[in-house]
Amino acid sequence: MAIRDILHHPDERLRTRAKTVSKYDDKLETLVADMFETMYAAPGIGLAATQIDVHLRVMVVDCGKQDPYPLHFINPELTLLEGTEEMEEGCLSVPGIFETVSRAETIKVRAFDQYGIQFEMEADGLLAVCIQHEIEHLEGKLFVDKLSNFKQKRIIKKLSKLNT
Ligand code: NI
Repeated sequence: MAIRDILHHPDERLRTRAKTVSKYDDKLETLVADMFETMYAAPGIGLAATQIDVHLRVMVVDCGKQDPYPLHFINPELTLLEGTEEMEEGCLSVPGIFETVSRAETIKVRAFDQYGIQFEMEADGLLAVCIQHEIEHLEGKLFVDKLSNFKQKRIIKKLSKLNT
């Protein structure tokens, strides 16, 4: 296992649309293990492959004790979005920035595990927010895209100060 480097906003590679995984092999297993290690080391509660510059539809989530286990999703698709909920979010690719965004309150997601077994699960609360956030990464989007232009510019300014 290895900790991978996390890309930071406004890195253009974060805007890549991830490709569908077609091979369920050792390489995929290593990627999932590395993503968990990278997420826990950060520490964070979710990580999409896009964030470590691997453009495949793979993501890991661990929202802690209230939800049953660390989860990984291969080729995730949302099959239900219901209600709205506002929650403060952060992102390992946008360090130090926390902003309230609006998302669906209850979701259903269909995905495969690393061995190619399909599953579907329902989620709400923090887990639902986290899954929606990570799926957006796979589409090349970030939670800050939902904010006003003024806020987005201010965030980029803040981040550029951190990086110099
Ligand atoms: Ni994120």
